[in-house]
Amino acid sequence: MDVRPKRFWTLIACIAALPLFYALVWVTGGTHNAWTHLFYLPIIFAALAINWHTSALIAVASGLLLSGWLIPRDTVEMIPQLTSAWVIRLAMFVAVSLWTSVVVDYLRGRADQLYHETVELTRVQHAAVGALADLAEMRDREYTGYHSRRLGHYADVLCTQLQVEPNLHRNIVDTIALHDIGKVAIPDAVLMKPGKLEPHEWDVVKRHPAIGEQILDSICRHAEATSESVLSFLSTAREIVGGHHERYDGTGYPNGLKGDQIPLSARIAAVCDVYDSLRSKRPYKKRFCHETAVQMITKGRGTHFDPKVVDAFLAVQEKFAAIWEQLKEEEATVQTAYAQRRGTRQSGALKIVLGGTTPRTDDRG
Ligand SMILES: [Fe+2]
Ligand SMILES: [Fe+2]
Repeated sequence: MDVRPKRFWTLIACIAALPLFYALVWVTGGTHNAWTHLFYLPIIFAALAINWHTSALIAVASGLLLSGWLIPRDTVEMIPQLTSAWVIRLAMFVAVSLWTSVVVDYLRGRADQLYHETVELTRVQHAAVGALADLAEMRDREYTGYHSRRLGHYADVLCTQLQVEPNLHRNIVDTIALHDIGKVAIPDAVLMKPGKLEPHEWDVVKRHPAIGEQILDSICRHAEATSESVLSFLSTAREIVGGHHERYDGTGYPNGLKGDQIPLSARIAAVCDVYDSLRSKRPYKKRFCHETAVQMITKGRGTHFDPKVVDAFLAVQEKFAAIWEQLKEEEATVQTAYAQRRGTRQSGALKIVLGGTTPRTDDRG
């Protein structure tokens, strides 16, 4: 932040105050009255808002203006001041100036230190969120690392369009990557099974939102967080983790929440997650073009998705396409990542299982 204009006007105000206060002391009878203390104001103000040497100069100027040379003790009787009186006053002005500057410098130093610590903690927080999200995705055969990153960008665009309250907006962008954290507890045999899942296996996959909520509850308990910003961050993360598979018409999981019962953060996350999943090539589904992804999301307006969020998505869909283009994973990257974890024996899993007339938009949790 550029503080120079503010400093300039503070300096002008401090300088302008000196002759005004001098005139006031003169007309009210001289230095024997209490108005001389007004001079402390520009001295302290300069120390707070400008710097110590400007404050010290104003202190010396104030002391000299109130010296025996320029103003008597009593302007009616024209009784002069004792030299010791105005010299001690000048010394007091300088002492107050220097003391205020020392205290202000110390407090500024502490504030800077706290600011840098906060910035560092925020970076650690983001890194921890990223690591947790990666942890969940690395167990999934679709892991490429780009999915989580894109979600944050989509969420940012959608929150801006929906004019989401700034704190919630920031929390959604920062925590959406955690949406599938609960997958860490889903067995490999189910999560990485090639081809379609059996109904009982789907039941296992469908546990991941509730498991994710338990993970976040545990973080909350261990962190013993009390600050409002940390609590709201964790609360938004929990909403997204627990609610990203709820459907607007109440047919989703894990709780079958309906309409506004589903937190806004989760309704936004659902659209972002589904759009990106549709655009991505996965071992069990083909990649859809932007137009098809838009059509499928539009088809889910009022059933799968909140109509308001879909309308906002339609208004900014080109930005979604641009984010995808900018951060899309190369097909080779996906296949290499998959092959590295699964070996070549499962290359048959690259078949499309999402074909048919009504492909589900929330396949594999
Ligand atoms: Fe996802
Ligand atoms: Fe999920």
